[in-house]
Amino acid sequence: MKKEVLLSANQPELGSALRKAASMTSADVAFEVRNAKLQGRGGAGFPAGVKWVLAGGASGAQKYVVCNADEGEPGTFKDRILIEKYADRLLEGMAIAGYAIGADTGLIYLRAEYPYLVPVIEEAASRLRQAGLLGRGIMGGKFSFDVEIRKGAGAYVCGEETALLESMEGRRGEPRNKPPYPVNSGFRGCPTIINNVETFIAVPHIILNGADWFLALGEGGDSGTKLFSISGDVERPGVYELAMGSKIGDLLDLAGAVDVQAVQVGGASGKTIPGSDRDRVLSFRDLPPGGSVIVFDGSRDMLGVLENFMEFFVHESCGQCTPCREGNSRLLDAVHAIRAGSLSGREALAPYLDLAETMKQGSKCGFGQTSSNCFVDIVNRFVLKADGQGGN
Ligand SMILES: Cc1cc2nc3c(=O)[nH]c(=O)nc-3n(C[C@H](O)[C@H](O)[C@H](O)COP(=O)(O)O)c2cc1C
Ligand code: SF4
Repeated sequence: MKKEVLLSANQPELGSALRKAASMTSADVAFEVRNAKLQGRGGAGFPAGVKWVLAGGASGAQKYVVCNADEGEPGTFKDRILIEKYADRLLEGMAIAGYAIGADTGLIYLRAEYPYLVPVIEEAASRLRQAGLLGRGIMGGKFSFDVEIRKGAGAYVCGEETALLESMEGRRGEPRNKPPYPVNSGFRGCPTIINNVETFIAVPHIILNGADWFLALGEGGDSGTKLFSISGDVERPGVYELAMGSKIGDLLDLAGAVDVQAVQVGGASGKTIPGSDRDRVLSFRDLPPGGSVIVFDGSRDMLGVLENFMEFFVHESCGQCTPCREGNSRLLDAVHAIRAGSLSGREALAPYLDLAETMKQGSKCGFGQTSSNCFVDIVNRFVLKADGQGGN
């Protein structure tokens, strides 16, 4: 169901949420976000408040708040729209996070292809500084917090939180081993929280209206609202805000999708479902909603779609670990063989479906753990189904 909060024309007065947060203890601010069950809006869905509580309790004189504005997932453009419209809310959300965990520095890792957003963020930051909402001694108190922008490196893997930290520290953007987790050892080895743009922008609303209000916005036990960038074969592409837990059919109707053959939810590494599955739920319970929804109508060649995504993964893998580096290439070879007619049928494809599972289990980071999803879904639901051998 459509429900506008983050995109609503009625935005609360700038600074009112930060003022309210500053009247609470730091721990209570983190607990409020935790109680709101705000799941990270960048794709993985980790509870933001849990991260904040852990970072707040971590030892270290210097802590950091990092905003992941890399937005490299194919088909995602919600963070760009949010920054264009609400850069000031993002900064307010980051300042509240800084207060909650005891950090005085915020860093925004901005997608390389969004240089025009630098002045937008800088202008918003200077407005907040003039209003006493950023800088030293915020609102005349002891809390200080300011932000810097770090330009992204132009690689998809740099959106992975530890590769992002490597990139910000001036090294190749390659994911780190975990543990240690960033809440204990993040930017320059200091306790760090990393959250998505949309996650931070939800925070001022939660602080002002309370955790229960946020919980009640969701459907079917989910919490809050979620932004979706919908593109592909739809009459009205764009960014829509729905209750978390809404049905995919509601979003398809809003965007004017007809003759839907397939929908990919959560980006190239998300889930690809048949258009008839209109009752599937946009939720971490069912279709993890990163932000990208791409619609393919009946005219699309789904094997071609898969080839395109596998080429993307082969190109973008950082190459550190074998399951991802070699596995994505093998799956692309399989797509070429299917296309050439030399690979067909469930039995012949079974080793490749096994390989996809090995990649999920054996890869070092979320990239290789999810890049085979579209192979599995498209082969099972579209390629084998066309042969009358489809599965789940
Ligand atoms: C390959 C890869 C790319 C990612 N790209 C992004 C991205 O562009 N933006 C983002 O917010 N999270 C991205 N993530 C997820 C981050 O690792 C991390 O979970 C997120 O920034 C945490 O913020 P959140 O909990 O608020 O979502 C990516 C993960 C992987 C594995
Ligand atoms: S899974 Fe892929 S992207 Fe992640 S570390 Fe391994 S090779 Fe690099």
